[in-house]
Amino acid sequence: MAQTVQTIFQEFIQKKVQIFKDRNALTSHFTPDTIPHRNEQMNAIASILAPALKGGRPSNIFIYGLTGTGKTLLSKYVGQELERMSNQGTNPVKVLYINCKMRKVADTEYRLVAELARMLGQEVPMTGLPTEQVYQTFFRTLDSNDWVVIIILDEIDALVERMSDSFLYNFTRINQELKKAKVSIIGITNNLHFIDILDPRVKSSLGEEEILFPPYNALELQDILKQRVELGLVPGILSEEVIPKCAALAAQEHGDARRALDLLRVACEIAERQNDEKITEKHVDLALHKIDYDRVIESVKSLPKQTKLVLWSIINLVEKEQE
Ligand SMILES: Nc1ncnc2c1ncn2[C@@H]1O[C@H](COP(=O)(O)OP(=O)(O)OP(=O)(O)O)[C@@H](O)[C@H]1O
Ligand SMILES: [Mg+2]
Repeated sequence: MAQTVQTIFQEFIQKKVQIFKDRNALTSHFTPDTIPHRNEQMNAIASILAPALKGGRPSNIFIYGLTGTGKTLLSKYVGQELERMSNQGTNPVKVLYINCKMRKVADTEYRLVAELARMLGQEVPMTGLPTEQVYQTFFRTLDSNDWVVIIILDEIDALVERMSDSFLYNFTRINQELKKAKVSIIGITNNLHFIDILDPRVKSSLGEEEILFPPYNALELQDILKQRVELGLVPGILSEEVIPKCAALAAQEHGDARRALDLLRVACEIAERQNDEKITEKHVDLALHKIDYDRVIESVKSLPKQTKLVLWSIINLVEKEQE
């Protein structure tokens, strides 16, 4: 067994055909230096947050749009730039980013508040204290400075699913209790109906400003892919139909840049494994099949046992019918 593994590694090292220049550039965690086709949204977020640089409290922002439309990328990017700019001035700004789907940091009110305190430099044990005490520690740390703190709650719908919106209600009113610090919330979701299910009071304060991220069209997706290809792939390795095909497939679905990137990356990986010297349409077709297959397997795996049994019975019946 070990022999086979070693052979695979050896062969990989000795491979002459090189496809990737920087594999990382084609993953969805990579942050490019420039973000094409999002100027309008970028300017809108930057203009709303700019008052923080003079010590003012920016309005809360509610960002929504379908999956893969650049919401996370852009919010983190503008947040980083804001912090960088504030370091050069006299008004401190701190940006805290939380992905509310991450169970480790946001599955209970306790953990979320403890994580926020930790991000402000105050260690709180992740379990064991009364929640009230964790809140007090967080408030104290928050209000220990004359600063503007921007809290980005990404995938905020997951938070409300777990903790109801009374948590958000308290959070959006946090400024009433603060003496020195000022807090703004940026809530992000890909659930387009999320805002409608909120308590009207939460809705109006979270949605002081609302920004929609529309889906990308095929041409925009092509530009996004071209930027990553330049950074990530060896020049000349792609046949010319590959980028338009990945972009068209992702645009058909719902203008999802993540899907376009995944298609391209998986196509390259398949070509690499097959020792092919050029990436062609054929590899994109295989990538599409693989991604969709993996997606079905993953969703079936996460179903409850009873649902799996129902699915199994249906498959059995269909097979019997065919016989
Ligand atoms: N305009 C763009 N330029 C370059 N890359 C982009 C652009 N928009 C999105 N991407 C890339 O596409 C992927 C998905 O983007 P992002 O994670 O920001 O989507 P999202 O809107 O937050 O999706 P979700 O709702 O599923 O969380 C990321 O890898 C991101 O880097
Ligand atoms: Mg996101």
